[in-house]
Amino acid sequence: MADDFRALRVHKLDKGTEARFETLTLADLDPGEVVVRVAYSCINYKDALAVTGKGRILRAFPKVAGIDLSGTVEFSTVPAYGKGDKVLVTGCNLGEALDGGFTEIARVPASAVVPLPAGMSLREAMALGTAGFTAALGVRRMLENHQTPDKGTIVVTGPTGGVGSVAISILKHLGFKVAALTGKADRQADYLKALGADEVIDRKALEMGARPLERTQWGGAVDNLGGNTLAWLTRTVEQWGTIASIGLAQDFKLDTTVMPFILRGVSLLGINSVDVPREWREAVWDRLGGPWKPARLDLIAPRTITLDELPAACEALVAGGQHGRTVVRICGD
Ligand SMILES: NC(=O)c1ccc[n+]([C@@H]2O[C@H](COP(=O)([O-])OP(=O)(O)OC[C@H]3O[C@@H](n4cnc5c(N)ncnc54)[C@H](OP(=O)(O)O)[C@@H]3O)[C@@H](O)[C@H]2O)c1
Repeated sequence: MADDFRALRVHKLDKGTEARFETLTLADLDPGEVVVRVAYSCINYKDALAVTGKGRILRAFPKVAGIDLSGTVEFSTVPAYGKGDKVLVTGCNLGEALDGGFTEIARVPASAVVPLPAGMSLREAMALGTAGFTAALGVRRMLENHQTPDKGTIVVTGPTGGVGSVAISILKHLGFKVAALTGKADRQADYLKALGADEVIDRKALEMGARPLERTQWGGAVDNLGGNTLAWLTRTVEQWGTIASIGLAQDFKLDTTVMPFILRGVSLLGINSVDVPREWREAVWDRLGGPWKPARLDLIAPRTITLDELPAACEALVAGGQHGRTVVRICGD
């Protein structure tokens, strides 16, 4: 392993932050038991905010950005991992409180490392990344709470995003009927149907009503938006239905009543992909390497860029209008 390596590291300035390409050594990185040669990373919304400085994601400076990585172990001080092992890390405070994945060499806590599942390549791991993991975690929690296809259609909001796209694929594989509620019905209906959506609904044409309980329409929901949309979901999900609350793309606020919970038994399931019990994390990744792997991962993550292209790609993501995920090839396989 070379002594020095390239990384995209974010510094705090008097006003704001600045992402710089730098040559680092291991001594510059946070402590950790496992050193990984990074094959791939990917861009999540959090990463784009951290790199562009448009959101407060990093909790210490300077820090290598990037919440996800996949790669090969260079060396490890714990017996669980050895040189040459293929691994992935998502969340676990990488690219937030700890140095992250936008680097040729990363050093990470052993507790964050997951062996690459059988049946998954290093690139596929990052085509999924935190978004795919979160979608799968959400579906897992819905199944654990007795969501079954006979209870009705699952509506997925923000479906053209990474989380929504993977959620549609998994739900379809599990035999659910899926409705995609999107702001891009005019231009992304074919994409959503190719992933498995049975129905594409235009969010802009939606009548949400305002009563504490509206006519039930959905067996359950995967919600990436929060705000008024999540409030409406609580009012329209069937008896004993579940809602995985994942995102806040619309708003972090939630204005609803207890009526759906106490009169329809609806469950609002919180999903946090950063701090996840280890056995859940491994089980979810195993499924993603097997039957839950989206058949059209090529459509979900159509772009592969280099480390040098990261800053511009982060700007483009924050500017909006893109769909699908971006994989970052760092050292490659
Ligand atoms: N809980 C967790 O641990 C966790 C983990 C990962 C991500 N997240 C959050 O989950 C959400 C989805 O993540 P993602 O990676 O899929 O994000 P993404 O790729 O940016 O997609 C978000 C989708 O939401 C819709 N959208 C965006 N802005 C909107 C707005 N202002 N109003 C209404 N809809 C809007 C769009 O879908 P349409 O155009 O199709 O409607 C967009 O494709 C984000 O809020 C993200 O921060 C949470």
